Amino acid sequence: MQEHHPETPGKISDAPMNGREIEARIAEAKEALGSRVLILCHHYQPDIIARFADHMGDSLHLSRLAASRKEARYIVFCGVYFMAETADILSAPEQEVYMPDPGAGCPMADMARLDQVERCWRELTERVGETILPITYVNSSAEIKQFCGRHKGVVCTSGNAAKVMDWAFEQAPRVLFLPDQNLGRNTALAKGIPKEEIALWDRRKAELQGDPDRARVILWDGFCPVHVRFTPEQVIGLRTQHPGIRIIVHPECTETVVRLADGSGSTEYLIREVREAESGSVFAVGTELRLVKRLASTLPDRTVYPLDEEHSICIDMSRSTPERLLVVLEGLLQGQAPGRIQVSAETAEWSRVALERMLAIS
Ligand code: 13P
Ligand code: SF4
Repeated sequence: MQEHHPETPGKISDAPMNGREIEARIAEAKEALGSRVLILCHHYQPDIIARFADHMGDSLHLSRLAASRKEARYIVFCGVYFMAETADILSAPEQEVYMPDPGAGCPMADMARLDQVERCWRELTERVGETILPITYVNSSAEIKQFCGRHKGVVCTSGNAAKVMDWAFEQAPRVLFLPDQNLGRNTALAKGIPKEEIALWDRRKAELQGDPDRARVILWDGFCPVHVRFTPEQVIGLRTQHPGIRIIVHPECTETVVRLADGSGSTEYLIREVREAESGSVFAVGTELRLVKRLASTLPDRTVYPLDEEHSICIDMSRSTPERLLVVLEGLLQGQAPGRIQVSAETAEWSRVALERMLAIS
């Protein structure tokens, strides 16, 4: 696993504080920091954190904000590690990025280590030469993004993966798609690329499953442990229980779940679909539970069911707690906050190239 998980910051005080006290102190610290702080919050964050966000968004939206809001000296990123790294890479050099808990990682991002990717690349290029270009989903470490930047490649998010893949095919006849096999496969299949032209790199055996000469898309074998829990049976079961229901899912779900659903797309797509539907519409949404519940509570004239109520919480997203947020904000006021995320200048240089290629395409 990646060595990115630093210690969780300590407690604010030994005296127990109740939830209301903590929230009041967060609000006070935020007000005292004023425009010096920008709190960015991913849609999967708990409500208790979301209420302090200056902006909520999916990873593409939050990346754009980090790149454009140069006035805030401090960016506090409530999400997971790769998102805060991305914010650090895209923000101005004088801006500082913090997380309530830098120990919040993404298991999918940890499934692609630089040494593994370099080995795969060596073996593939020995076989197919310069005919291949790497794309990494933003859910990856800064090291993997820098690898893509150096090799003429690019980053994508679930919101722009199709466009980015089109761009990649204008540069080269083949792509290596990292680290999410499901997003890569679902994007390729939606473009009409036949299954025989999609191969899979087994990272543990360090070998390709499929025909390297025929393959146009080579998938890394990573996956999101939350989104692969959704099953075809759940989709079929909900359709039987609620005839007329519209089932929409995130493209990190498996190919079968995506095929059985009525639509699939990024977090912003899922929100837009429900928001723009007629009053009275009935949905099931296959993604992280907190986003689905927030959709249901903020749009009460639609019925929104989670595709799976039991297994769809991202544990790492739960690591931002009000207490940890308070430690960072009060630390910033005192000039010594924990939880700073700093990507080394060398890694940042090439990962920025890959990220900026993406921002120019989408
Ligand atoms: P988005 O790119 O849609 O924000 O998704 C990020 C993520 O971690 C999904 O699991
Ligand atoms: Fe990573 Fe999945 Fe959590 Fe998203 S939901 S942060 S992909 S583990």
